[in-house]
Amino acid sequence: LARASRQEFKEISPSEFFYRNRELAGFSNPSRSLYSAVRELVENSLDACELNGILPSVQISIASAEQDRLDPRLYTLTVEDNGPGIRAEQLPSAFGKVFYGSKFVLRQSRGLFGLGGTMAILYAQITSSQPALIASCTDGETGIRVKLLIDVERNQPIVVERQAFAAGGWRGLRVTITLLGDYSRAQAKLLEYVRQTAMAAPYAELRYEDPFGKAYEFARLTEVMPPPPKEILPHPHGLDVETIRRLIRREADRPLAELLVRNLHRVGEKTARAFLAQNGFDPERRAGELSNEEAVRLFKALQSYEGFMRPDASCLSPLGEELLLLGVKRELKPEFAVACSRPPASYSGHPFIVEAAVAYGGALPPGLRLYRFANRIPLLYDEMSDVSWKVLNEGVNWTRYRLNPEMPLAVVTHICSTKVPYKTVGKEYIADQPELERELTGAIRECFRKLSAYLSRKGSLEQRVKRFELYKKYLPLLAEFSRGLARRPRAPSYRALLERLYREGGLAEQHGGGNEEDEGP
Ligand SMILES: Nc1ncnc2c1ncn2[C@@H]1O[C@H](COP(=O)(O)OP(=O)(O)OP(=O)(O)O)[C@@H](O)[C@H]1O
Ligand SMILES: [Mg+2]
Repeated sequence: LARASRQEFKEISPSEFFYRNRELAGFSNPSRSLYSAVRELVENSLDACELNGILPSVQISIASAEQDRLDPRLYTLTVEDNGPGIRAEQLPSAFGKVFYGSKFVLRQSRGLFGLGGTMAILYAQITSSQPALIASCTDGETGIRVKLLIDVERNQPIVVERQAFAAGGWRGLRVTITLLGDYSRAQAKLLEYVRQTAMAAPYAELRYEDPFGKAYEFARLTEVMPPPPKEILPHPHGLDVETIRRLIRREADRPLAELLVRNLHRVGEKTARAFLAQNGFDPERRAGELSNEEAVRLFKALQSYEGFMRPDASCLSPLGEELLLLGVKRELKPEFAVACSRPPASYSGHPFIVEAAVAYGGALPPGLRLYRFANRIPLLYDEMSDVSWKVLNEGVNWTRYRLNPEMPLAVVTHICSTKVPYKTVGKEYIADQPELERELTGAIRECFRKLSAYLSRKGSLEQRVKRFELYKKYLPLLAEFSRGLARRPRAPSYRALLERLYREGGLAEQHGGGNEEDEGP
């Protein structure tokens, strides 16, 4: 006891916490950190463009900053976008402060925590001791260039240098950091990341230049972007007791019914009154008068009341079957592909939508590949801990669709939600929520059903073609043989028979035009 009482206590800042535990946010070793830095900056750029309805154009470049050393060594990473930029007043905090951001609202975006971009800069600073260089312009006229460090102990930005510049029509944001990386190890994952990002954003233009000067370009395939998500109020089933307490404190003077209507998603006057009456609360009572126990009781009642409408999906922005297929076809070049977008659903008051696509054959190698996306972010690590993996392995009966994982097959899943149930802040894999599992299973099954129908159509077509070829080969011989037998001058006509086989086998539609073999008898 005596010893315990001499222990010193101290508080650490959020940036200090992530400085000490950076692997929690995906910054563990130099190869993974390089990957995470690219990812966080690219995701910020895409978010910024999409949330503002701008067709994204994003440039990524990685260059060695220490030519004479082997990996791990310092690299300079630059990510530039044509988004809205960040206003000069916000810029230092947006990137120099952990848990500072604009995405703490209920609407779908890649960013969630106000952490990612800052972590990249923090990691760069502690491994290279160099400040981040950020250029931003919001109006196309005057931009601002900032050299930024982070005061880790105080979770505050330090602006080392600040300079205005004439932007000459350029608008957007450019971030350059120098960080310790291991490119040779990160190479494959980085390229895969850019490819898959392009797959889920066929409306974006992406350019990635690697340290050897090789550029990978992904052109914009369409000018159509999914409609941007709208911000919504929290659903009563998604609330926790702390949120209720805050609401009550903030709106102490408001009658209960009004408090619910104003602050909760899809709760109207009638629903609010019915709910309060059923649970023994006076709708006219002022919120501030509730005791602590009553607040807790209110919370529990809100959680379990069945009469609320389900959350609507205006806060989500799924890709839609068409855009998903567009990206899948460009990237995988399959013989056949099909997509399915499920209707909106919810878990614990959080709305979500599941989309899936299945691609088969063509340029795909044999064997099953799973592509996972969450709010359009490709997830490349920890595949086997992910809910999609579980569903593919346990939730679908492959033999029922006459499919198997040795076929040249790709399954793409996309989960959109205001709260993707990631298991870590590194956003790599998704927990197996039962509702999510159900929708994923439904989406994959539907795609499998369609693929299976395609394959059996194709299979029976192939059989018919084979049979037709047989007839075509042997009927003339048979005819000739019977002519000989019957000692007739002319062989019987088999043309009509062949023509009928061709027509009835549907070979004309399937093989219409083209090479001679298919021209019919
Ligand atoms: N390229 C950009 N263009 C415009 N604003 C940006 C850009 N990058 C970042 N921001 C702003 O800076 C904020 C902080 O970014 P940061 O990556 O640290 O957090 P986040 O994206 O909100 O969440 P997450 O931790 O999940 O990435 C964002 O919320 C956004 O408002
Ligand atoms: Mg971010």
